[in-house]
Amino acid sequence: MHNVLIAGASRGIGLGLTRASLERGDRVYAVARNPNGEALAELQRQYPERLIVIAGDLTAADVARPIEAALQAQALDILLFNAGIMGPQHQDVAQATPDELATLFLTNAVAPMRLARQLAGRVRLGGVIAFMSSQMGSVALARSAEMPLYGASKAALNSLLQSWDRSAERPQACLLALHPGWVRTDMGGDQATLDVATSAAGLLASLDAHLDANGCHFLDYQQQPLPW
Ligand SMILES: NC(=O)c1ccc[n+]([C@@H]2O[C@H](COP(=O)([O-])OP(=O)(O)OC[C@H]3O[C@@H](n4cnc5c(N)ncnc54)[C@H](OP(=O)(O)O)[C@@H]3O)[C@@H](O)[C@H]2O)c1
Repeated sequence: MHNVLIAGASRGIGLGLTRASLERGDRVYAVARNPNGEALAELQRQYPERLIVIAGDLTAADVARPIEAALQAQALDILLFNAGIMGPQHQDVAQATPDELATLFLTNAVAPMRLARQLAGRVRLGGVIAFMSSQMGSVALARSAEMPLYGASKAALNSLLQSWDRSAERPQACLLALHPGWVRTDMGGDQATLDVATSAAGLLASLDAHLDANGCHFLDYQQQPLPW
């Protein structure tokens, strides 16, 4: 059994990861802006002992506080930042407002990294700290022509992760940027090739495979490396 924290667990891939972790026996700390949603409530009824739901918006400066309180003395094996947004529908640098840009880059890049640094001490030696990135964040692949603002926000996340990896404050954990595949969620849409359960199972296998491992890696849900 692992202790897993999933930030952004209310729906989509985060909810799928929460369900898959509970099904295999993990204790899951699920952070959600709306902790009273029906999907999490149903899981709470099924797993009252092992699911701890924490109310928190990742972009709030003090979100670490309720998380620390819920963790008590428990060390984490896996700390996963899943929450993300697409940004404005237009995806146009010329039209984007300061508010749109601030929300996008704060949510997808700065807030998860800030919270990761605050919570890193709660991850056990040899644990994994992972961030839901996207292949669209790969500068080398250059696949974000249709979603340039979203791609840039995930590239920013990847860049912050690489900077952390090379910094004096680097934690004693394996660092991962993950691409979940193209998944049928509110964000991925109906035409996406993967269902949530398949992506979540692959992502969990990737996380497990990097327990007690080293380095900083960019991988897809099938553990295939992606170029930064
Ligand atoms: N679906 C894909 O094909 C795909 C592909 C590549 C990468 N990704 C990445 O995978 C992750 C999950 O995507 P998804 O498809 O599951 O998206 P989704 O269905 O739109 O779900 C997004 C999740 O993030 C949460 N969230 C957003 N902003 C938050 C905040 N400030 N604080 C707390 N939670 C917040 C949402 O919570 P609320 O319910 O409160 O809004 C929701 O649980 C994202 O990082 C996304 O960029 C997805």
